[in-house]
Amino acid sequence: PSETGRVLSIQSHTVHGYVGNKSAVFPLQLLGYDVDPINSVQFSNHTVYPTFKGQVLNGDQLWDLIEGLAANDLLYYTHLLTGYIGSASFLSTVLKVVNRLRSINPNLVYVCDPVMGDEGKLYVPQDLVSPFREKVVPVASMLTPNQFDVELLTGMRITSEKDGLEACNILHAAGPTKVVITSMVIDDKLHLIGSHQKEKGQAPEQFKIVVPKIPAYFTGTGDLMTALLLGWSNKYPDDLGRAAELAISSLQAVLRRTVADYKKAGFDPQTSSLEIRLVQSQEDIRNPPIEYKSEKF
Ligand code: ATP
Ligand code: PLP
Ligand code: MG
Ligand code: NA
Ligand code: MG
Repeated sequence: PSETGRVLSIQSHTVHGYVGNKSAVFPLQLLGYDVDPINSVQFSNHTVYPTFKGQVLNGDQLWDLIEGLAANDLLYYTHLLTGYIGSASFLSTVLKVVNRLRSINPNLVYVCDPVMGDEGKLYVPQDLVSPFREKVVPVASMLTPNQFDVELLTGMRITSEKDGLEACNILHAAGPTKVVITSMVIDDKLHLIGSHQKEKGQAPEQFKIVVPKIPAYFTGTGDLMTALLLGWSNKYPDDLGRAAELAISSLQAVLRRTVADYKKAGFDPQTSSLEIRLVQSQEDIRNPPIEYKSEKF
């Protein structure tokens, strides 16, 4: 294994553009990780475009790839990363993968973005919600839900920082030692809320980072955020606040460049969902310009 880590990343692939693995693999590699991507779907482009074409990997096909790796003793990973999962059967195979990887490396860190929806809308089948709550949360090491995902996972309505902190406590009690609510909208600003329970049963260390909302809509940012949080939290294992500052500062630099480049090319950045300028932002990923600081609660 490499000194930073070896990540198995099970996420979407798009031929054109940056979501899922296309948004996560390159930044993790830039941070020094070996990344083995499994493409849970292969689509022409992301699903916010007017149309898309492509194929979906099913649970048996995922397991087939795992067996192939196992047959060659290639299943040692330090991290498993998962994002959008489209069906209950695929999710149940992902759970099998977690167990299999932990049987080889009991210290495997499972970083799970429990993508279920956003802004009040569910975009996975309803029958994924309860497996996420009951089976995935208990085995995850770090969770990166958004405001709506947290509501689905906890059954709480989350409208304030206080609600967010309480939800993190509930999630810690169910399993993960690290929880980052990647975005909650409060008074037109984006609040990230982080929580690290260093010892079972003890009060977690909690913090927030507030960033202004850029008037544009991006895709692939949630996937990029979770990848960066994995990358930095592994480098600062006892300082989730620092890791989140680094992750969000990179991300904001990527978004500023994205908006600026679209404007330069004569596009109005408010008219369509923007493809992030990832390749152009290598330096901001390697050495994030820290502009946003975490504030402890
Ligand atoms: P998930 O992918 O799990 O649904 P999410 O809803 O938090 O998570 P995004 O809404 O893509 O994912 O946000 C991820 C991160 O991207 C946020 O933490 C924020 O820093 C940044 N971000 C996304 N959109 C904007 C925006 N319009 N202005 C500023 N930051 C943004
Ligand atoms: N994966 C696929 C296949 C998508 O089409 C999209 C958005 O359209 C995403 C992921 C969303 O990514 P994110 O939440 O990172 O913006
Ligand atoms: Mg969102
Ligand atoms: Na998220
Ligand atoms: Mg998302």
